[in-house]
Amino acid sequence: MSVKVLFVCLGNICRSPTADGVFQKMVSDAGLTKRIQIDSAGTANWHQGRAPDPRTVAAAAKRGFGLSVLRARAIKQSDFDEFDYILAMDEANLADLHSLKPADYAGHLGLFLAFGSQNGYREVPDPYHGGNEGFELVLDLVEDAAAGLLSSIQQKF
Ligand code: 4NP
Repeated sequence: MSVKVLFVCLGNICRSPTADGVFQKMVSDAGLTKRIQIDSAGTANWHQGRAPDPRTVAAAAKRGFGLSVLRARAIKQSDFDEFDYILAMDEANLADLHSLKPADYAGHLGLFLAFGSQNGYREVPDPYHGGNEGFELVLDLVEDAAAGLLSSIQQKF
């Protein structure tokens, strides 16, 4: 059995690439790269083809996560055929995804932080217009929820 996971935010240059890179490393460290495939996308196509925001790349690199190879793309209808988990960073992303979701989608569409330790955050706050502390918070929340997601998926194997 293998599982495909898609992380979704607005621009696909800050939060979902962070989730993508952090989860990739956890999956790789767990020896599960063949069984868990990972991608990320934005609900908007504004940054299509671009590398993640340099602030996102720098903050992640300080914690040992390499994001610079990632390139932004927009969500597409066929993602619902492909991915078993489609995980939104915030409620606005989730509402947009619900409006695209085919009626027969059988996978898990929900908030990424539902897999976290319920530390008072339901959403990953958008760091784009703020300072460096926002990028650190994204990493804190993403690392926590990614660990929960991995153990949830491992229980199904
Ligand atoms: P993301 O952050 O959704 O976490 O990638 C944003 C990136 C870009 C913009 C907004 C949020 N923007 O307005 O361009």
